[in-house]
Amino acid sequence: MLNFMKGSIFSRHQSAPPEDEKEPDVQVLAVWGSPGSGKTTISVRLAKYLADKKRNVVLLLCDMTAPMLPCICPPAELECERSLGSILAATHVTDTLIRQNCVTLKKMSHLTLIGMLKGENVFTYPAYTKELAAELVDHLRDIAPYVIVDCGSCIAHDILSAVALLEADTVLRLVNCDLKSVSYLSSQLPLLKDQKWDADKQYKAASDVKSNQAGEHIKQVLGSVAFQIPHSSELENLALEGNLLGELALKDSRPFRKEIEKISKEVFSV
Ligand SMILES: Nc1ncnc2c1ncn2[C@@H]1O[C@H](COP(=O)(O)OP(=O)(O)OP(=O)(O)O)[C@@H](O)[C@H]1O
Ligand SMILES: [Mg+2]
Repeated sequence: MLNFMKGSIFSRHQSAPPEDEKEPDVQVLAVWGSPGSGKTTISVRLAKYLADKKRNVVLLLCDMTAPMLPCICPPAELECERSLGSILAATHVTDTLIRQNCVTLKKMSHLTLIGMLKGENVFTYPAYTKELAAELVDHLRDIAPYVIVDCGSCIAHDILSAVALLEADTVLRLVNCDLKSVSYLSSQLPLLKDQKWDADKQYKAASDVKSNQAGEHIKQVLGSVAFQIPHSSELENLALEGNLLGELALKDSRPFRKEIEKISKEVFSV
């Protein structure tokens, strides 16, 4: 039996959360999946899609190992430098605390970002509990009508991602078209089953993060997938420039843009 990290929400002997009677509308989407499967990329592009459609959206970037705030747009485009760590360091989360620690953008008024800053890591702030993480996810519902959480893959060691995954209204579960991804899922899914995670509240997506991957093959392994996310070289270049929020103008990127539109329509009806 695995010896989970102390404080992990996957540690044994804890009572099951109370069952919710009625299904809420989709407001919180957790994007989760195998390492390097494009979780951050898809989260950012979905958030941008909604913001471009003038929908207020909060993007919560959970990665504390490689903070993603410095990677999604040039630093000069951010209106302020504020950290997710300051929220998690509090004894309780309030709407005011979240608003004080959100990062806004000069040119995209509908998008709000929450994440760790460049140079920070999990030890920069005091340890936080799963209850606090749940409070954060809950309060984000007051902040914006659309909430996208870019979860980390390592859910046994990442309380915020694990809690977001369990609390989200819907999960977009990405998988790379390779065997490592399949191995990751068969290793990690039992952790969620132990937590009575509702596996029906997810959309499976196969992601072509490399241009030579065969999305068709993964279907044979995973069964049906709701979305198949095409590769975009232009997007790859934007990522290299640290501008994931940049514009995708080339014709080659059209299949990717179409799929983001499809996901948004299906998940958020936008
Ligand atoms: N559809 C795509 N087309 C082209 N490149 C992509 C696509 N999706 C992701 N990538 C590239 O694949 C790499 C991994 O993407 P990303 O960082 O979004 O994955 P992740 O799942 O968030 O990774 P991690 O597990 O490290 O958090 C990046 O270099 C990104 O630019
Ligand atoms: Mg990521």
